Amino acid sequence: MNNKTLTLIKPDDWHLHVRSGAALKSVVGMTATQMGRAIIMPNLNPPVTNAAQANIYREEILSALPKDSTFTPLMVLYLTDNTTPKDIQEAMDNNVVAAKLYPAGATTNSDSGVTNIVKLYPTLERMQKTGMPLLVHGEVTRNEVDIFDREAVFIDEVLRQVVSDFPELKIVFEHITTKNAVDFVRESSDNIASTITPQHLLNNRNDMLVGGIKPHTYCLPVLKRAEHQVALVDAAISGNAKFFLGTDSAPHTKHDKESACGCAGVFSAPHAIELYAQAFDKAGAMDKLEGFASKFGADFYHLPHNTQTITLKKQNWTVPNELEFNGDVIVPFMATKTLNWRLEAPPLDWTPN
Ligand code: NCD
Ligand code: ZN
Repeated sequence: MNNKTLTLIKPDDWHLHVRSGAALKSVVGMTATQMGRAIIMPNLNPPVTNAAQANIYREEILSALPKDSTFTPLMVLYLTDNTTPKDIQEAMDNNVVAAKLYPAGATTNSDSGVTNIVKLYPTLERMQKTGMPLLVHGEVTRNEVDIFDREAVFIDEVLRQVVSDFPELKIVFEHITTKNAVDFVRESSDNIASTITPQHLLNNRNDMLVGGIKPHTYCLPVLKRAEHQVALVDAAISGNAKFFLGTDSAPHTKHDKESACGCAGVFSAPHAIELYAQAFDKAGAMDKLEGFASKFGADFYHLPHNTQTITLKKQNWTVPNELEFNGDVIVPFMATKTLNWRLEAPPLDWTPN
């Protein structure tokens, strides 16, 4: 590394939404340019709840990739109240790498999610035994719990219990947004890790709400106060292998976001690594980016590091105000803002395949 360029092992995205059909075709090439692999979220409509559906979805993703792409989608099972230990075994036998817990109603397409985790204990038992990681959307959904408190309450009401009942279960606490979550992950055993998104490193709730509502910064779990952002940046740049990259890039059309009831989801796939570079550089920690982006996630999943590399160049550039998406328009995160690092090789390709 010098001050002008930084070459990294090609990163992986440990939490990504690519959708399906034409929407998938618009976005998957963007991630393939940046990332070697990605954990593919299963919250399609209907969700990916068994091995056969995961196989079909994997094939659809592979056939939507640009020619010569070496990108590998890592498939995930969507847990419902009815997921059985046999479903887990079949998923493992079909190279599904993890299973995802959406508390019912927590976020986009989570209506078939789990209503009571205790019902799933035999399934978690099998996951613990076989080493399949549990990916957790960590928010309670009870109406009386304030939206800004839902992650912290989830830790105290659900996660502590699950961790104590299944001490050997590998868990990824996804897209963490609070100091409470950072502390919980730090204090837990090495079986517990977490992903952090670029928007939670670069923004806090003032960025979303002061001077007018910015719908393109709205995602779930929602942005929190500045002190939580500070704790997340500290965790990301700490070199602690429990914290790694997961963009939660979640594409929705401009129209669906700029609406009286706007969808939750920030779209960061085209410039994900540049966004993380922005946050790490601001914190004076570019030397910590490679571990976070390219090593710690793979290590947690017991996968090899990628053999390809990418190079970032220190160069100001402006994020486009809009991109084409699914025959419509999408607004990328930080649209019209200037970023200080740019992906150099392979060249950043904004055009959908
Ligand atoms: C995600 C989506 O749109 O699928 N939205 C989001 O705000 N993150 C769902 C999710 O991961 O919560
Ligand atoms: Zn997500």
